[in-house]
Amino acid sequence: MSRKRVAILISGRGSNMSTLIEAAKAPDYPAEIVGVLSNRAAAPGLAVAASHGIATASLAQSKFPSRDMFEDVMTQLLESWDTEIVCLAGFMRILGEDFVHRWEGRMINIHPSLLPAYRGLHTHERALADGVKVHGCTVHFVTPGLDEGAPILQAEVPVLPGDTPETLSARVLVEEHRIYPEALRMLAAGEIEMGKAPHLNG
Ligand code: GRF
Repeated sequence: MSRKRVAILISGRGSNMSTLIEAAKAPDYPAEIVGVLSNRAAAPGLAVAASHGIATASLAQSKFPSRDMFEDVMTQLLESWDTEIVCLAGFMRILGEDFVHRWEGRMINIHPSLLPAYRGLHTHERALADGVKVHGCTVHFVTPGLDEGAPILQAEVPVLPGDTPETLSARVLVEEHRIYPEALRMLAAGEIEMGKAPHLNG
């Protein structure tokens, strides 16, 4: 079996990254994690990836004169790893159109809401403020519009009385860790394609 070469982009703790790394250890998983790139040198996930023997790199956008130049260097780095699929996992930067088009159909993201509800930041706070009864997470293809690409998998969780952003986020995170490896498996195995029928099922 030829496994797809996957790079993960992070900015922080990297718990979703860790679940992808663990999933890819299974001999029958159709993807291998070849590199982890962070836009923050202090991201705790970098050390975790390195402890698994995975190549890591950090690039600060502030060191580049423009976002385009920053993203060109990101692409060079990803290409140096022969990356075939890019997984965004808590990568806290909005990506430019050229970069997105370069990886379109081969780049996916995990978002902590049931898209199209609550695009952007602070999803748990906003869901609680609205008093919704059901919240969740989505793995979706990345397109130029923020959190607008076609969903691949979603999972719902109940919003419980007394929930805080922290308790709700922890409940959603459990589901993120379940559906992200499965969505990557589906993409790497060629079971889904951007622009084809949606494949929503938690
Ligand atoms: C997750 O909630 C993910 O949905 C969002 O950012 C958070 C990243 O957490 N995009 P982690 O770094 O994967 O632990």
